[in-house]
Amino acid sequence: MAASDAGRQTQNEGYRTLSLSGHVGFDSLPDQLVKKAIKQGFCFNILCIGETGIGKSTLMNSLFNANFDDPVSTHFLPSVQLRAQTYELQESNVLLKLTIVHTVGFGDQINKADSCQPIVDYIDAQFEVYLQEELKIKRSLSSCHDTRIHVCLYFISPTGHSLKTLDLLTMKRLDSKVNIIPIIGKADSISKTELQKFKNKIMSELVGNDVQIYQFPTDDETISKTNNVMNGHLPFAVVGSTEFVKIGNKMVRARQYPWGTVEVENENHCDFVKLREMLIYTNMEDLREQTHARHYELYRRCRLEEMGFRDIGPENKPVSLQEAYEEKRHEFYLQLQREEEEMRQRFVQRVKEKEAVLKEAEQQIQTKFEHRMLMNQEMKLKLEKKKKALEDEITVFLEKKASAELPQSQTSVSTPIVSLKRDKDRKNFT
Ligand code: GTP
Ligand code: MG
Repeated sequence: MAASDAGRQTQNEGYRTLSLSGHVGFDSLPDQLVKKAIKQGFCFNILCIGETGIGKSTLMNSLFNANFDDPVSTHFLPSVQLRAQTYELQESNVLLKLTIVHTVGFGDQINKADSCQPIVDYIDAQFEVYLQEELKIKRSLSSCHDTRIHVCLYFISPTGHSLKTLDLLTMKRLDSKVNIIPIIGKADSISKTELQKFKNKIMSELVGNDVQIYQFPTDDETISKTNNVMNGHLPFAVVGSTEFVKIGNKMVRARQYPWGTVEVENENHCDFVKLREMLIYTNMEDLREQTHARHYELYRRCRLEEMGFRDIGPENKPVSLQEAYEEKRHEFYLQLQREEEEMRQRFVQRVKEKEAVLKEAEQQIQTKFEHRMLMNQEMKLKLEKKKKALEDEITVFLEKKASAELPQSQTSVSTPIVSLKRDKDRKNFT
């Protein structure tokens, strides 16, 4: 064989390194990868966090040289809402599926304690969609739309003072879930000397509060120098505009004021170009990679551990997926049995309670019944007495009547006065 003829160069553990004696063709692998990636297209998802009107939509239009037609948000929402819009953009032969997620109503509520929760929930929900796809038997990860957030542009208000509590709390909650790039919005409203102080203050506050922001990678020699310098410029002070002004013989994106013009792409005016270069031109793939390898990995690990899966068991022995599954199933079965027993106990207890209540009610009814019977008997006795008395009265009356009728027939002619009196007595009687 040609390869074995070429000889053995080094003997490593379990494999040998051979040199080839002719061209084979696998050096085209990178080209094949590029072709495949171009055919598939790319997706990139940006989350814009910042208070209402800080310039989020304008900056997105400026960054991608497009008009995303984002509606203006209201200031009066009871809670923060997330609005995602996906666009397909094409540059040369590269297709980009871009999703821009806006935090509508961020910072507008009087009580801002819950401002961060909807954002955390949204990021987690996108991770969960991906995880569920990964766990399917029939997966289609390459064709499904990956909605995981690759970068969070956090807009800081150009106050010139320091970060707001809400900024610190939000960034702290999100730093393990997403790559955060802090930027100062509407940076044309802050003077050059104030801006540097402001940037320093922001960075020292972030470091002081242990907020991990995204650092442009410095491990690749070709870009390490630029990325290193750019890390020193964070947070970027940006200006956005949808207007174009003629400067010299060129139309440029700018904001015009009575005292002058701020050019968006002029590096002496703001850091817009730095942001665009770092975000899109140099580090877009790193942001995608970091999202998958760092943030999603962390989410996935926590979720799988929550579900009961783990790689090593007690005594540091590796646990296979099957073993972990069986163990979890057994645990679940025991828990089910425990719950069933608890439910049975509760049921028995309730039946006993019901029985006691029924018995008491029965006794009450019995007592009432006996009482009634007694009363009825008394009443009956009374009535019988009354009846007897009436009967006696009737007998007396009939006797009186009979005796009264007899002498009357004998004396009716001779003694009219007595007869009249008897008539009167009879009337009174009736
Ligand atoms: P909502 O989506 O409604 O929260 O607002 P938004 O953050 O998307 O802000 P938007 O881009 O709609 O800009 C709001 C206003 O600020 C508009 O009048 C913009 O012209 C203006 N604006 C945007 N960017 C800048 C900037 O960099 N500097 C200044 N001075 N104004 C800007
Ligand atoms: Mg907007």
